[in-house]
Amino acid sequence: MSNGGKTILVVDDDNMSLKMTELIVQENGYKVVTADSGEKALEILRQGGIDLVLLDIEMPGMSGIETLEAIRADQQLKDVKVIFLTVMMVEFYKQEATRLGASDFVQKPVLPVELVSRISKVLRASEKQRILVVDDDSMNLRFAKRMLGDHYEISCVSSGSEALATISGFMPHLALLDLHMPEMNGYELLAEIRKIPQFEDLPVVFLTADNDRETEIQVFKAGALDYIQKPFIADVVLHRLNRILDLKRLQSSLQDEVEKQTAELSESRRKVTNLSLQVVTTLASTIDAKDKYTNGHSIRVAKYSRELGRRMGKTPQELEEIYFIAMLHDIGKIGIPDAIINKTSKLTDDEYNTIKTHPGIGAEILKNISEMPNMEIGAHWHHERYDGRGYPDGLKGTEIPEIARIIAVADAYDAMTSRRSYRSALPQEVVRGEIEKGKGLQFDPQIADNMLDMIDDDKNYSMRDEGNYGTF
Ligand SMILES: [Fe+2]
Repeated sequence: MSNGGKTILVVDDDNMSLKMTELIVQENGYKVVTADSGEKALEILRQGGIDLVLLDIEMPGMSGIETLEAIRADQQLKDVKVIFLTVMMVEFYKQEATRLGASDFVQKPVLPVELVSRISKVLRASEKQRILVVDDDSMNLRFAKRMLGDHYEISCVSSGSEALATISGFMPHLALLDLHMPEMNGYELLAEIRKIPQFEDLPVVFLTADNDRETEIQVFKAGALDYIQKPFIADVVLHRLNRILDLKRLQSSLQDEVEKQTAELSESRRKVTNLSLQVVTTLASTIDAKDKYTNGHSIRVAKYSRELGRRMGKTPQELEEIYFIAMLHDIGKIGIPDAIINKTSKLTDDEYNTIKTHPGIGAEILKNISEMPNMEIGAHWHHERYDGRGYPDGLKGTEIPEIARIIAVADAYDAMTSRRSYRSALPQEVVRGEIEKGKGLQFDPQIADNMLDMIDDDKNYSMRDEGNYGTF
C-alpha cells in the first residue's frame, strides 16, 4: 500500500511502544522516522521532509507538550501537524493540545485501526485541494489561476492530451474542463479521464459559453457534476467549487468511518474467536487432566483432525470447526469417575460400560451450544466404527457424520502414538500397519488413506506424545 510517500515522525521515549507505532504506520504505507526524545524530534524536523508528527506526551526531560511549544515557537516549523499520543486522557492535556493546535489525540496503547484513520484524516485535512483546469484559451487559464490560486493548488493546461499527460502526476481533487476545444473536446476528454481507474469518480465541472437546454442535458449525461457559464463570475465559481469539494471530502470521511467500523468489527470477531478457542482449549485440558496418561490428547487429536481435513480439501472455516469439535470430543469423560479412567488393571464389564457412556454424556453437554450446532457430533460419534460395530449407536459408513469419522482416525492414531502406563508410544510402522488394517473396518478408508499419507510424510516420527508434535 502506498500513502503518497508521506513521512511520519514518531516520537516516544518508550522503545516498545515506539517500535509498535512504527510498525503500524509503516505497514500502512507511510515512511517512518523515529526519535526517542523531544530534542531529537526537533533536530529531525529542522532537516525538513516530515508531513506529520506522532508525539508522545509523557516523556522524561522534554515532554510532548514542551516539544510542541518549541515547534510552534520555531518560524520554520510552526505549521507542522502533530497528533498527541498519551496514556492518560486528562483534561489538562486536552486544553494544552488545543492551545498549541495539536490536530488530534490518540490514547496509548494505540489501536492500529484507530491510529491509521486519525493519521489519514489529519493528512487529508492539511492538504490543499488540487484543481486541474483545461482550456484552450490562455486568457481563461490566466483568469482561472488568478481566481482560484489563493485557495487551491492549480494546474493549468491548454489541451486534452496535455491534461491526460499531467493528471496522474498532479492527482487533482477536481477538474474544470472547457467544453469546446480543438482536437479533443470536453466530453471526449472526460471519457478518457474516466478510463483511468483512480479517476473514475473524479468530480468534473464543465466550462462553457453555451447557454441552451441541450448543453445542460448533455453535460450531466456525460457525468459532470456541474457546469459553469463563461464569462466567469469569480464568486460564483468559487462557491460552486467549494461546495463540490466539501461534499467530496465529507463523502470520503464517511467512507473512512465505514472502513474503520468494518475493521473494528472484524477485530472484535477475531477477539471472540480467540476467546472461544481459549475456552475450548481450557475445557479440553480439564478433560485431559483427569487422565494421567493421556495428557494433551484432546489438542493432539484436534491438530491431527485439522490436518486430515486440510488434506481432504476442507475450507479454512471448516478446518476451524473441525479443530473446535475435535478438541471437545472426549468432554463426556467429565462424567466418568477418575478411578475408572485411571485404572491400570483390566476393566470389569460394568466399568467398561460406564466408559462407553462418555459419548452420550458429551453430546448432552454440547448440544446446547446453539452457535455451533455441529459441536456435539464429535463427542457423540467418535467411537462409531465404519463397519457398524462401534458405539453408542452402531452407525455404519457414511451414516456416521464425516467429522466424527475424521476424529475416529485421529483418536485411534493418538492412542497408539502416546505413552501408556504400561508401554511407550508404539513404533511408527506398527501404527501404520494398524491404520492400514482398520481401513473399511474401524476407519473410513479414504480418511485412513490420508492418515497413512500423513504418517509417510512424517519421516522423523514427530507426530507422537514424546517430543514435539510437528508443525500443525
Ligand atoms: Fe473417546
